[in-house]
Amino acid sequence: MEDKANKVIIFDTTLRDGEQAPGCSMTIDEKIHVARRLQRLGVDAIEAGFPAASQGDFDSVKEVASSVDNLIVAGLARCVPEDIEKAAEAIQPAPKGRIHVFLATSEIHRRHKLKKARDEIIKMAVKGVKEAGKFCPDVEFSPEDASRTEPDFLSEVVEAVIDAGAKTVNIPDTVGYAIPWQFGEIIGMLMENVKNINEAVISVHCHNDLGLAVANSLEAIRNGARQVECTINGIGERAGNCALEELVMTLRTRRDVFNAYTSINTRQIVHASKIVSNVTGMMVQRNKAIVGENAFAHEAGIHQDGVIKERSTYEIMSPEDVGAEKSRLVLGKHSGRHAFHDRLKELGIELSENQFEHVFEDFKSLADKKKQIFDEDIEAIVREVLEAGETAHVVVELLNFHISSGTGTVPTATVELNIKGEKNTDAATGDGPIDAVYRAIDRITEMECTLADYTIRAVTGGKDAMGEVTVQVETKGRSERGRATSTDIVEASTRAYIMAVNRILRKEQNNSVP
Ligand code: KIV
Ligand code: ZN
Repeated sequence: MEDKANKVIIFDTTLRDGEQAPGCSMTIDEKIHVARRLQRLGVDAIEAGFPAASQGDFDSVKEVASSVDNLIVAGLARCVPEDIEKAAEAIQPAPKGRIHVFLATSEIHRRHKLKKARDEIIKMAVKGVKEAGKFCPDVEFSPEDASRTEPDFLSEVVEAVIDAGAKTVNIPDTVGYAIPWQFGEIIGMLMENVKNINEAVISVHCHNDLGLAVANSLEAIRNGARQVECTINGIGERAGNCALEELVMTLRTRRDVFNAYTSINTRQIVHASKIVSNVTGMMVQRNKAIVGENAFAHEAGIHQDGVIKERSTYEIMSPEDVGAEKSRLVLGKHSGRHAFHDRLKELGIELSENQFEHVFEDFKSLADKKKQIFDEDIEAIVREVLEAGETAHVVVELLNFHISSGTGTVPTATVELNIKGEKNTDAATGDGPIDAVYRAIDRITEMECTLADYTIRAVTGGKDAMGEVTVQVETKGRSERGRATSTDIVEASTRAYIMAVNRILRKEQNNSVP
C-alpha cells in the first residue's frame, strides 16, 4: 500500500510552457489530441495555456477543459484581474479547474522588469491569489525566478500567498540557473522556515538551460516537494523543461532512493512522446533517455550477449515498461470501418464523426498505395486530418505540381495554385526538385520566403514508407512551421511548404484587423 504522503503530483505543462518553444505551436485540435493522450498517460494536472495571451490561447484552454474528464486543467495568469478573469472563464468547463498565478520575485526582475519594491510585490502576489480564489478554490502561485530570489524574501512571499489561500506554491528555476544540491537546499529551507508550509503542496518547475532540470526536480522531491511541473520530451522555453518521462522513470527505477511514486501509466510514455514530437515537429534525439530510438538498443556484442543471457546485465528498465515495443502491423486494404474504428480506440484516439470519415478515407487511399499499414501510419493520417481543421482559412491551395529531374538535367518544377479562387501557374528551376518547387511557389505568391529548416523522416520502415516533411518558413520577420505526409516526398515537401505559407498569411491577415 502506497503512503499518500509520498505521492508526487505530475503537473504537465506541455501545452503551455512546451508550446512556448520556438516552432512548437499547436492547433486547437492538436492540443485536444495531446490533452487526451496526457489523460491516458495518467498525469494529475495539465496546464492548458495562458488564456489572456491571445484569443487563440483562450479558445484552446476552453476547448481542452471541455475535452478531458478526470484531471485538473490549469490556466496561467499574471497577478492582474483581467488575466485572472480570462483564466477563470477558460477553465470553467473543466471537471477540476485551477488558476495558476505568477509574479517575479527576484531582485533582478524586481529592479529591471517590474520596477517594484519587495513590499509591493508581496501585496500584488496576495491580491492575485485572493482574486483567483474568488473564481476557483484551487489556486497555484509561482514566484517567478524563485531560485535567484533572496531566501528570506522568498520565504516571506511563500508564507503570504499560502495565507492568502494558495493551495500549491510552485518554485520555478525560471532560467535554469540552479544546481541540484543548491536547489534542494532552497526547498529544504522553505519546508523548515515557512510556518504554514504544510497547508500547501510545494511544487517545482525547472528549466534545462544547464541540462539539470530533471536532477534539480529530483533533489527538490528529496527535500519535500510533492508536485513537479514537466513536459513530454522536455520541450519548453529555450532548452526546455524537466522531461516527464525521465523524472517518472527515475522515481520508478530508483524507488530505493526516493521512496516516492507517481500515478503515471509508464507503458503509455513512448506513445505520448511520439504524439508530442509529431504534433510539434520537434524531433526526439536518437540517444534521448527513455524515449530515444536508441534508448533500448544494444549494439556492442558483449552487451547483446549479456542481455540474451540475463536482461538485467545491461538493462535497468525494460522497453515494455515504457511502451517501447515494436510497432504493430495493423490493417490492410481489406480492413473495414469497424476494424479501423477499434484500432483507433485501442490507440486512444478520439475523433468527431466528421474527422473519423476523413481519416478513414485517407486510410483507404493509403492502403491502395502501401500494402501494410502500421500504427504510425494511422497516427500520421490523424495528424494530417487534425491539421486540416485549419483548411477553412486556407489562402493558398495546391492544385497540381509536376517536376522533371534526374542526372544531367536541370531540375524544373511547374506548380499550379489556387489563390483566393484564382488559378495561377508558374515554373522555376532549382538545384533540386524541391528547391525548384519552392521557387515556383514563391514566384506565384510573390513572397520572398526563406527555408529556415527542413526535415524529412520515414513514418515507418520499408521502401514504401510514407515520408513526413517538416519545414520552418520565414518571411518579413514571421516564422511558421508546416508539415505534411505522403508516399511521395516531393508532394509532402510541397504541401508542408504551402501549409507554412498559409499560416504566415493567416497571421498577417489577423494582425491587419484593426
Ligand atoms: O519558468 C517559469 O518561471 C514559468 C512560470 C510561469 C511558472 O514558466
Ligand atoms: Zn517555465
